[in-house]
Amino acid sequence: MDFSIKAFDTKNTLAAAKTGCLAVAVFENKKLSAAAQALDANGAISAAIKSGDISGKPGSTLLLRGVAGITAARVLLVGMGADDTVTEKSFSSAVSATLKVFATLGSNDAIIAFPLESVKERDANWALRALVLGASEAEFRTDGQKSKKDPALTGVRKIVVAAPSGSVGNIGKNALAQAAAIANGMNLTRELGNLSPNVCTPTFLANTARKLADDYGFDIEVLERKQLEALKMGSFLSVAKGSDEAPKFIVLKHNGGKSKDAPVVLVGKGITFDTGGISLKPGPGMDEMKYDMCGAGSVLGTFRAIGEMGLKLNVIGIVAACENMPSGRASKPGDIVTAMNGTTIEILNTDAEGRLILCDALSYAERFKPAAVVDIATLTGACIVALGHHTSGLFTRDDAAHDALADELLQAGKQAGDVAWRFPLGEIYNDQLKSNFADLANIGTPGAASITAACFLENFTRKYTWAHLDIAGTAWKSGANKGATGRPVPLLTTFLMNRV
Ligand code: BES
Ligand code: MN
Ligand code: ZN
Repeated sequence: MDFSIKAFDTKNTLAAAKTGCLAVAVFENKKLSAAAQALDANGAISAAIKSGDISGKPGSTLLLRGVAGITAARVLLVGMGADDTVTEKSFSSAVSATLKVFATLGSNDAIIAFPLESVKERDANWALRALVLGASEAEFRTDGQKSKKDPALTGVRKIVVAAPSGSVGNIGKNALAQAAAIANGMNLTRELGNLSPNVCTPTFLANTARKLADDYGFDIEVLERKQLEALKMGSFLSVAKGSDEAPKFIVLKHNGGKSKDAPVVLVGKGITFDTGGISLKPGPGMDEMKYDMCGAGSVLGTFRAIGEMGLKLNVIGIVAACENMPSGRASKPGDIVTAMNGTTIEILNTDAEGRLILCDALSYAERFKPAAVVDIATLTGACIVALGHHTSGLFTRDDAAHDALADELLQAGKQAGDVAWRFPLGEIYNDQLKSNFADLANIGTPGAASITAACFLENFTRKYTWAHLDIAGTAWKSGANKGATGRPVPLLTTFLMNRV
């Protein structure tokens, strides 16, 4: 969808706007929004509302043609709930209902004149973003690997957003550009997630990162198995060794800030397929373990977004990518391996592989003297039990510096409509990871499996400020609408934008 923003006023009126369709809001108490009033000189809109043909409930719509006194061919009335409380949810349902109607119209351009500034606890930038991200999600296709493509998109392809009153053009234009960058970043994350695991291998992720570096001027380094051996990443390599696919350790650098400024480091779990290894997973639904690289995908998607925005911040992205396969070379339960920082780990379950690759990536991150490190991983099924598919799990240590980082991330999530919730961490949970034979076991005693997984990582992050996001429930959808969501790109990008 092509979006632009335009101011309408008394000279340049909505009523005189030439467009295939004008979408305006109406409310449940039969009240018209300011824009609907501006089109109601002949009473056609108030008559339509009085008739009861539209309830005004969030997401209700009524398409009118040939409304007297206005130039546009159609007016789309869109319900937005009670007028004094346009909630985030009612605005979003209005947006998706509008886009659904737009897709069926015999016109390819439209104007949306919604009350962007009336959403409770949100501003016009938020509303603009909701429009752009809503359209991007609605038009996202999953037919890349189909020989017969899905039907082409029809209807409205160009949307002009009526600028919020009093806003100078530039503010709106920036907000639109930022929203488009986030949408493009999410699309990359979705595409990588949905790709079949025989295509989206560690090598494919590395090539994608190289292309991003080319397009946006990032520095890039891809470390190969030999270099990882030299770095003594025994934990990461213990997972990679069961597979015939070469592991890749990808380091991307966006140098948007001052050279002396400490970078934010994002670390993504890039298991391009998780069979469980020798601790093999059950067959049903195992295909969804192609999504086990969604942490990595979200790092690459976030880089796409901040590259396009030219964000003035130093950001480093680390992706540890490999497959977790059973084979004659695979790790066995009981194996003890030595991580990059010297910690010995007893692998009690080869299916707890995410933490084994991340711990070495987290040790590697020390060299950047980071301002903060955030790792993103589809780490535990238990996180879905706790939070379902709505909310990502957030884990940090329990001290003032980490409370501040946690608040930043929680706040960014709220702002972006990509929410997270904080879990506790601490010594009592860490004790669940004791091993009789090594420094640490890779799984905890029963209970609090998401927390013990985070605790495992915590052991490798004591040299900097760190947070962990468990996105097992939020990175993709199962069932009829199976597909990657592009989360948590909005949260991460907003978090980084807020740091500028
Ligand atoms: N990638 C999985 C976690 C996962 C499972 C995410 C299902 C989303 C849906 C991870 O590698 C894993 O297998 N974790 C185990 C850990 C256990 C062995 C301690 C799990 O959650 O069962
Ligand atoms: Mn696993
Ligand atoms: Zn996994």
